[in-house]
Amino acid sequence: MTKTILVTGGAGFIGANFVLEWLRLGLGRVVNLDKLTYAGNLENLTAVQHNPQHVFVHGDIGDQALVSKLLQDYQPSAIVNFAAESHVDRSIHGPEDFIQTNVVGTFHLLEAVRAYWTQLSTVDRQAWRFLHVSTDEVYGSLMPDAAAFTEQHAYAPNSPYSASKAASDHLVRAYHHTYGLPTLTTNCSNNYGPHHFPEKLIPLVIHNALTGKPLPIYGSGQQIRDWLYVTDHCAAIRRVLEAGKVGEVYNVGGWNEMANIEVVKTLCRILDSKKPRSDGKSYAEQISFVEDRLGHDQRYAIDASKLHQELGWKPAESFDTGIEKTVDWYLANQDWVNNVTSGDYRHWVAKHYAERGEELA
Ligand code: NAD
Ligand code: TYD
Repeated sequence: MTKTILVTGGAGFIGANFVLEWLRLGLGRVVNLDKLTYAGNLENLTAVQHNPQHVFVHGDIGDQALVSKLLQDYQPSAIVNFAAESHVDRSIHGPEDFIQTNVVGTFHLLEAVRAYWTQLSTVDRQAWRFLHVSTDEVYGSLMPDAAAFTEQHAYAPNSPYSASKAASDHLVRAYHHTYGLPTLTTNCSNNYGPHHFPEKLIPLVIHNALTGKPLPIYGSGQQIRDWLYVTDHCAAIRRVLEAGKVGEVYNVGGWNEMANIEVVKTLCRILDSKKPRSDGKSYAEQISFVEDRLGHDQRYAIDASKLHQELGWKPAESFDTGIEKTVDWYLANQDWVNNVTSGDYRHWVAKHYAERGEELA
């Protein structure tokens, strides 16, 4: 019998990339549970819609009865939990959904898994894995010259998003420590790549550039993030699932720290050469400094040496190669962009950026 895994949030950005890669590599069947919030999109999964190894289920990780039924029906040997509310700005506007899905939802998911896992045979219990996908943002913000986050760094989340992810990480840790559930946690830096919803910096800038809109930079643009190409994150998760030590945490990062303004200028340069503006000017002319994000974290940096040294993972893409692939994907998939930027999306950008003094409607 082929191996089955349950993926949650597999219609979102990273989850969809993970599902597409898993099936492309022929690693077994995927049961994909997703609530299809504004960020979840079945169009991300068009390539596997007729693949019998992909079973899509529309539902909530907080629906314990549904998750219990899926576990009984499909008998997966692992869960990879991507499902979350993931956008910091939305968490500032309205934290409740973040608490509901990231904290309460993860709790119900863990409870359903614990009940199922407890009644397995000893051998199956030992082989089972609950892999929780988390973020470097749980560690808080770094001073410019501070060492990058290791797995020992104290948690100090600053936004409702990162606080809710931190809470879920703690629940996962507690379920291992208390009940012996075989958990693994990954804390990754900022991802970018295909299928990234254009509310986040990189896809938003590509989309706004091409549609002649301002490229909004919060505050000074000097905040620093570490960027990792999404399929490298997916490969790291597969490696941790395969060989990670139960109960452990693994940081995942790209060794690629950049200030936001540099990221945006890089995108402008690439677009200038691949899709020049009709007036011959640079897309950089569209850059617009807007009011800063509340509580904006200054710097994230990940030390991923544990994952490299213990499990041999390192990223395949540099920022130069990854960002070029990303721009190419957006240029080739304007229909996808047009579909996801209709309706609710317009309402979000109009409201959010109007508050920072910019018209993006
Ligand atoms: P995303 O917002 O693009 O996708 C989230 C997916 O989860 C969507 O398909 C959504 O419909 C689904 N979902 C939301 N609530 C749900 C619920 N209650 N039940 C079932 N499904 C639900 O997010 P992403 O960027 O793909 O991030 C995936 C995971 O990776 C998140 O846990 C996030 O915290 C983590 N992460 C993201 C990044 C990043 O840079 N994007 C970096 C590190 C970690
Ligand atoms: P984002 O992509 O939202 O990811 P995160 O907040 O999880 O790091 O933002 C990346 C950085 O870009 C962050 O420092 C905020 C900044 N940013 C802007 O300057 N302008 C924007 O319009 C957005 C969405 C983000």
